[in-house]
Amino acid sequence: MKAIAINAFGDSSQFKLLDLPMPEPKENEVRLRIKASGFNPVDYKIREGHYGGGSFPLVLGSDAAGVIDKVGSGVKEYQAGDEVYALIFGQGSNGAYAEYVCIDTSFISHKPKNISFEEAAAIPLVGITAYRAVSSSGGIPKGLPVFIAGGSGGVGSLAVQMAKHFGADVFTTAGSEESATYISEYLNVKKENILLYKGLAVEEMKNKLLEMNKGELFAFAIDLIGGEMKKLCLEVAGFQGHVTSILPEEKGFPVDLLTRGESIAFQKSLSIHFIFVGSQSFYGDRLTWKAYKKELLYLKTLLEEGSLRMPTIQVVGDLSIETVKKAHQLLEEGHVKGKLIMKT
Ligand SMILES: NC(=O)c1ccc[n+]([C@@H]2O[C@H](COP(=O)([O-])OP(=O)(O)OC[C@H]3O[C@@H](n4cnc5c(N)ncnc54)[C@H](OP(=O)(O)O)[C@@H]3O)[C@@H](O)[C@H]2O)c1
Repeated sequence: MKAIAINAFGDSSQFKLLDLPMPEPKENEVRLRIKASGFNPVDYKIREGHYGGGSFPLVLGSDAAGVIDKVGSGVKEYQAGDEVYALIFGQGSNGAYAEYVCIDTSFISHKPKNISFEEAAAIPLVGITAYRAVSSSGGIPKGLPVFIAGGSGGVGSLAVQMAKHFGADVFTTAGSEESATYISEYLNVKKENILLYKGLAVEEMKNKLLEMNKGELFAFAIDLIGGEMKKLCLEVAGFQGHVTSILPEEKGFPVDLLTRGESIAFQKSLSIHFIFVGSQSFYGDRLTWKAYKKELLYLKTLLEEGSLRMPTIQVVGDLSIETVKKAHQLLEEGHVKGKLIMKT
C-alpha cells in the first residue's frame, strides 16, 4: 500500500512515498481503507523527534475516516463496508498518512451520518481533547464566564462550541482580525469576548480580560496554547477556580504550582488539570481504551443532533509528499483556523 513515511526524525524533507506491505488485522482489529486523514500539530512534533520512540519507517497521522475492508477474528460489532472514523494514537499498525490502517475497535466508531469522510477525519483527536478539557475538573460551570486561550484552532473550534453548549459565557483569544472574525461569525462568540493578544504581555492581557469580564476573575480557564497563555490562565482563574491545560512545558517552566504561600495555585486554591489524550493508549491497557470509543460515539451524537458545528476544513490535497509538506508548514506557522485534511 501507498504511504508517506519518515526514515529519520527531522524537517519535512524527511517525507518519502513508500510502498509498504498491506497490514493484516489482529483479533480485535479492523482494517480501514482510509478515505481521508487529518493533520495535527503533534504530527510535526513527532516528526521533529520530540516524542522519540517509534520504529522506522514511521507513518504519522492520528485521525482517519474510511471504510472497513476486513475484520479480525474476534470482531462482532463491525463488518466490511462499515463507514467509521478513528483515533490512531499509538495503537495503529501505522499512522493515517496511508491507504490502509489496522486499528483496535476501541479506537473507532461509526462515522457521524451527516458529515463527509473529509469532515469526519477532522474530528477524533481535537474532538476528544476538547471534550476532555471542557469536562475536566467537574465540568463547565453553567452560566459562568469561562476563558479559553486559543479559540480558533482545531481543538479551540470545538472546545468553544462545547463550552457554549454546556452553558458557559465563553471568552477567548485571537491573533488577528481574521481569526476574531472566524471566532465571532463561525463559532458564535460575542465580539466583545474576544481578546486580540498580539504584542501584549501577560499582565496587559489579564487587565484587558478582567475589564471585558466586568472586573471579575474566571471560574474556569482552559489553556490550549501553552507558555505565556498558560501563565495567563493561572492569572485570570478565580478563587476555587479550575485551570486545565493540554500543553506540557519544558523542564524549568517558571510557574510555581506547589510551594506553600508563594504559588498561585495555593493562593487561589485552584484545581489544576492536565489533559494528555494519549494517556490510556500509551500508558493503559485494553480495558482503559474503551474511553476513546465512548468519546467518539458522544461526538457523533453531538454532530448528528446539530449541537456541534464542524470546524471549517481545508482539504490540502491528495495523499502525496507535497500535501503532507504543505500541511506541516501551515501547522508549524501556528495560525490554522479549523482543520487541515488530506484525501487518501
Ligand atoms: N495534550 C493533548 O493531548 C493534546 C491534544 C491535541 C492537541 N494538543 C496540542 O494543543 C495545541 C493546539 O492544538 P490544535 O490542534 O488546536 O492546533 P492548531 O489547530 O494549530 O491551532 C493553534 C491555534 O493557536 C493559536 N495561536 C498560535 N500562536 C499563539 C499564541 N502565541 N498565543 C495564543 N494563541 C496562539 C492560533 O490562533 P490565532 O491565529 O488566533 O492566534 C491557532 O489557531 C497544539 O500544541 C497541540 O499539539 C495537545
